[in-house]
Amino acid sequence: MSILLGIETSCDETAAAVVRDGQEIFSNVVASQVDLHAQYGGVFPELASRAHVESITAVVDEALEKAQSTLAQMDAIAVTRGPGLVGSLLVGVNYAKGLALGAGLPLLGINHLEGHVYSLWPGMLEEPVFPLLVLIVSGGHTELLLMTGHGHWQGLGATRDDAAGEAFDKVGRILGLPFPGGPHIERAALEGDPGRWRFPRAWLDASDEFSFSGLKTAVLRAACEDPNARKPQLRADVSVADLAAGFQAALVEVLARKTARAAERCGASAILVAGGVSANQALRAALRDASPLPLLFPPLELCTDNGAMIALAAHWRWQAGQRDGLDMEVLPRWPPGAPHSFS
Ligand code: KG4
Ligand code: ZN
Repeated sequence: MSILLGIETSCDETAAAVVRDGQEIFSNVVASQVDLHAQYGGVFPELASRAHVESITAVVDEALEKAQSTLAQMDAIAVTRGPGLVGSLLVGVNYAKGLALGAGLPLLGINHLEGHVYSLWPGMLEEPVFPLLVLIVSGGHTELLLMTGHGHWQGLGATRDDAAGEAFDKVGRILGLPFPGGPHIERAALEGDPGRWRFPRAWLDASDEFSFSGLKTAVLRAACEDPNARKPQLRADVSVADLAAGFQAALVEVLARKTARAAERCGASAILVAGGVSANQALRAALRDASPLPLLFPPLELCTDNGAMIALAAHWRWQAGQRDGLDMEVLPRWPPGAPHSFS
């Protein structure tokens, strides 16, 4: 039994939630900075940390209020410790430390990627059979992991360059779509012909790694008059919808086929997909085509960064006895692997 406050500030959402027993989400408040960063076409780290400082108190207070609870009723405070932007992580971690100290509550530092994975747990009808193949696709990450038990991970492969969401966002910018590009490309692609452009797929032989920068460059070349210009202009004779559809088809085909192959090789019982890009319906369809295994996705409202996922992941760590000290440091680079282990 646990009632946990989860705090997330690793990137551009200031978020907090109250969750019971790793299952029941009492509140989940997210203050998005999307509008703030839209003008830059990407997350501006300095502005992100400043915005976290401005909104964290209100976000945490609202999460407690919506859950009709007080800090004193929490068993512990869970906060994203990494990976993420250092200045952003520091805001959440220091705030959580202050709360923990003031209220005399234990503190738990949680891995953001593990949080994304646990965003799937509330929808699970029964406890899954390990090992599970996990694909995390977000603005900062593209990772294939093998989950062999609660808190036990094996990193299989990651992207060598752009993350999948980053590729969506960069191509969105090339095509003149608003930030973040992912949902806008998905919408534009619905009107386009995915067969009009045949963009390159980087299979990287049998490895579980990914590479999307070549695909992004291929879209740039196809879409722009002078791809090397400082501000490349879209050609008048190309269809944004066709380019979006061609790009998305290439990206989701690679993600889906490599994920399915790794799942089969590792004897996984199911495939879990998490992170912002897991909201993409074309990716979901491509995975269904590529693998006969059960596919699990988070509910749409938990696909992008939120505090509930941090409290959900923290439940298992709380049960396993994890407690972190007030000297806990942020881990801007925290590869899935060794530090995930309970032991
Ligand atoms: O997990 P997330 O909220 O933040 C990170 O930890 O990065 O993911 C944000 C990313 C952005 O790159 C955004 O473009 C992408 O997820 N995204 C999508 C969709 N919705 C969000 N990409 C493709 N299709 C979508 N529907
Ligand atoms: Zn994320």
